[in-house]
Amino acid sequence: MNIHTYEKLWLVAAMVLIVAFIATITYGSVGLGITMVGDQQDTVEPTELDGDRFDDPRVAQVGENEYEAYVTAQIFSFQPDPVVVPENSEVTFYVTSRDVIHSFSLVGTNVNTMVIPGEVSEMAVEFDEPQEYGVVCNEYCGPGHHDMEGMVQVVP
Ligand code: CUA
Repeated sequence: MNIHTYEKLWLVAAMVLIVAFIATITYGSVGLGITMVGDQQDTVEPTELDGDRFDDPRVAQVGENEYEAYVTAQIFSFQPDPVVVPENSEVTFYVTSRDVIHSFSLVGTNVNTMVIPGEVSEMAVEFDEPQEYGVVCNEYCGPGHHDMEGMVQVVP
């Protein structure tokens, strides 16, 4: 069977588009001053968060420009609130829920994860410029769902 040259060309063009779409999804936030560079999952016992690393939700410095943020979601808030991190930092977020399914979504970015009791959502995010990002919950979690908000402050 002989594939016409134009047909080959269109096949290649289609492949390039598919790769470009995937790249856009993966690196879509480039240019917004924020990049999601990792996304993994770990587990935790939701009823035993006290005494665990989520005992005291906080931001901890672990390297020169590296930070770890331990965040809990619960009806209808996030802790800590606000999450304060310095500019030009790489922050690994560890997010879990104390009760039901929530989400942890930074408004206007592609930083967005479901927050499931028993699981730890892990995301590494680079923050360049000082800015405030609203945090919202995108999973319906009860009557206060629409008021469930937090804040990430990137400070100089
Ligand atoms: Cu938490 Cu919706």
